[in-house]
Amino acid sequence: MSEKRNYNRPVEVASGIFWVGYNDPASHLHCNPYLIVDNGDAAIIDAGSRPDFAIVMLKILQTGISPGQISTLIYHHADPDLCGSILHMIDMCNNPNLKILSDPKNNTFVSFYIERDKRHLLKSIVDYPEGFKIGNRVLKFYPTPYAHTAGNFVTYDIQTGTLFSSDLFGSTSKDWNLYLELKENCYTCEKIDLCDECPLREIFEFHRTVMPSEKSLRFALETIEKLDARLIAPQHGSLIKNKKVIDYLIKQLKNLKGVGIDGITV
Ligand SMILES: [Fe+2]
Ligand SMILES: [Fe+2]
Repeated sequence: MSEKRNYNRPVEVASGIFWVGYNDPASHLHCNPYLIVDNGDAAIIDAGSRPDFAIVMLKILQTGISPGQISTLIYHHADPDLCGSILHMIDMCNNPNLKILSDPKNNTFVSFYIERDKRHLLKSIVDYPEGFKIGNRVLKFYPTPYAHTAGNFVTYDIQTGTLFSSDLFGSTSKDWNLYLELKENCYTCEKIDLCDECPLREIFEFHRTVMPSEKSLRFALETIEKLDARLIAPQHGSLIKNKKVIDYLIKQLKNLKGVGIDGITV
């Protein structure tokens, strides 16, 4: 049974990790920014678009932290649904030691969101092979190239087992809930692509559209599989905390057909 929550407030989805997105019933594709707070230090993951800035920042403030505590903005790729509010975030944080972290291949494009005199804030995840500290916790970065951009990566919080998966595990959602739940017969369904109500169908369609190829999607899932994450926190769609659902989705997405260019027949 789906749990009803107050989506007008931030939701702590794991210890020190807050969902600071919002439920927009009019949109079938809305975004999930996250805030990590540890020992007075804070990071925002995929902060969101320009139009979403006010509501995301309000939710961040509702957690009780002050913007000056935010030391790090992490962006998994350079799309505007993640990066559109960067300038506003920089101004609001007003932290001279702020780091904006992404992969070098993304940074080429992320820099276009940032005024020239602030581009020195942009740093590379490659400089943190042992992980990046927020307070006392360590975030590890894993490349998932071309899933869906050349510099794409995912971020894993070792302490809570939370994987911030970017567009991977994302979805459009006609009937959105914070957490993905599957009915028991979903695991054996052979007609997912025909089932109108099915969250799996929405997830598969999203990956077929957004990911460039079966190979890049499979590589990303093989990387993620090794982490044995306890919570998947995607940038779109619903979070996944049920291990059975996580394992099932990894298996299905690894073998998904018709992804990106592989779905084009000429
Ligand atoms: Fe994207
Ligand atoms: Fe996205």
